[in-house]
Amino acid sequence: MHQKTVYLETFGCQMNELDSELVQGQLEALGYRFTPDDTRADIVLYNTCSVREQAENKALSRVGIISQRKRDGADLILGVLGCMAERDGKDMIRRHPQIDLMCGPSELDRLPLLLDNVAKARASEQGQATLLDRVALAGSRSRRSTTLGAAEDSLELLDLSRAFSPDLNGKAAGRSAYVRITRGCNKFCTYCVVPHTRGAEVHRPPSEILAECRQLAEKGVLEVTLLGQTVNHYCYTHGTALSMEGRELAQVGPGLKAFRGGSTGTNAHTTSFADLLQRIHEEVPELQRIRFVTSYPRDFGDDILDVIAASPRICPYLHVPAQSGSNRMLKLMNRGYTVEEYLEFIDRAIKRVPDVSIAGDIIVGFPGETDEDFQATVNLLRQVPFKNNFIFKYSPRPGTVAIDRFEDDIPDPIKRERNNLLLAVQAEVSEAVHARWVGREVDVLVEQVSKRDQERPNRPLKSQEGDSGGVTLTAHGKALADHANGDATMGSVRHGTENPKASQDAGPVQLSGRTGGDLITFFNSPSGIDPGELIGTIQKVRVHESGVLSLSGTLQSQLPGTLATT
Ligand code: SAH
Ligand code: SF4
Ligand code: F3S
Repeated sequence: MHQKTVYLETFGCQMNELDSELVQGQLEALGYRFTPDDTRADIVLYNTCSVREQAENKALSRVGIISQRKRDGADLILGVLGCMAERDGKDMIRRHPQIDLMCGPSELDRLPLLLDNVAKARASEQGQATLLDRVALAGSRSRRSTTLGAAEDSLELLDLSRAFSPDLNGKAAGRSAYVRITRGCNKFCTYCVVPHTRGAEVHRPPSEILAECRQLAEKGVLEVTLLGQTVNHYCYTHGTALSMEGRELAQVGPGLKAFRGGSTGTNAHTTSFADLLQRIHEEVPELQRIRFVTSYPRDFGDDILDVIAASPRICPYLHVPAQSGSNRMLKLMNRGYTVEEYLEFIDRAIKRVPDVSIAGDIIVGFPGETDEDFQATVNLLRQVPFKNNFIFKYSPRPGTVAIDRFEDDIPDPIKRERNNLLLAVQAEVSEAVHARWVGREVDVLVEQVSKRDQERPNRPLKSQEGDSGGVTLTAHGKALADHANGDATMGSVRHGTENPKASQDAGPVQLSGRTGGDLITFFNSPSGIDPGELIGTIQKVRVHESGVLSLSGTLQSQLPGTLATT
């Protein structure tokens, strides 16, 4: 029988990248093959994002191209997965009849069944399966706790059955992996679709998170990034429901108002985020780097900061979006903290965690944002040593409180102007943050040949298949960008292009990687060493120069080998 070939492309955040990896593992186990070339695929799947209109437009344009190919006679199955499928619902299939199947992010365990239904109906007289057989969306069920348990448990099995094999084309040659700790979100920031597309916040049992970390470490992974929308709110209460096999079940988390995080409220029966970090650090010593995203600026206890400070393999890196520097805006956004509270947290983090690296997100042009509100955001950027901020123009999202209650009254040219002004301020701040590292030695997890050298005509090392220039294409065709927010504007200089001594001659190959604090670092591979062997290892680099977005230096390590971080 013809083996079905799948092209899977991912948009959006790291959650989606992980979902795509799990989907790929699940389908490969069933005999599907994957291709990075959509023209060679029998099945084209888009794992979509709904966070801003631009993210949806990208997916829609791809759907348009494949739809045209189908109308021209291509025998293809076209599937839309992820947040946009969930947000748009069945309407999407009505508007785009070439879409064969849709699957929300909390229904991905049902994808093989949907594919089967579509293929079988096509092979029979029926032609197209019924909507019920080709659409799996959580709909309103995603927020009803009575039905959550069972649904989440089958999803939990998808994470657990993770058929992990190092993706040699992936980030740092498969040495870096994501591990989910919570799903969904209960915060309901007024602008945000995530609580609507990913459903209620559910916390995975620590035993299963640890098992996954151990399994990844055994396969050679050096770095795990723990994923959740508000990771510091992770909290698991033991001794409650068990599944039939005696496994602990995922648990629904509290809402923003109810959360009592940090050390208060933790006891022998609960695992807090600090406890979880400490356990992973102690129980999986093979992991050289433990990262986590995203942190919420509220309820980030000193207990977490102290565990980070005391654990050499937990990266001193916080992605903790402020969103705005104006208390009035923060209130309208329902963020649940004030600028003063945000600054108090940053102060604590800097005091307690040496060399902590801080990154964030900002939304400009939220409804009603005045010049004064915007100026308050500029001031915030000047007060906090952010290594970078992803800056987004407010995009009204269907289904959110903001689109219903507040008029999108800031004209686009003003949004754009504010965006550019913030980028300029952030560039100055970033430059100062990077400059502090000159003269110091940093540990770098080497990720790839730098963009400069991937583009060099006579480059000594061939870049990997699926070369997209400066970014690494994963097996599912996703360009790995910082924070995976492809439409964010991050600075006037593109990654990997700012090394001042960039040369077009053949010579040593320039590699790039990241420090524990997530600073991009360039260095030349020494002559006589295959640069490919350095990718996926951690190396010591002495920093000589810094820029807005990166450091550059020289390799200090005794080669070859991966150094333990000290
Ligand atoms: N859970 C994370 C954010 C996840 S969404 C947190 O709370 O920090 C990633 C980023 O997208 C957000 O931080 C926000 O800056 C941006 N974003 C979300 N909805 C948006 C919208 N409607 N318009 C513009 N930016 C938005
Ligand atoms: Fe969205 Fe707010 Fe949840 Fe972050 S915390 S995912 S911004 S609702
Ligand atoms: Fe996008 Fe969904 Fe992630 S909306 S940002 S893919 S959670």
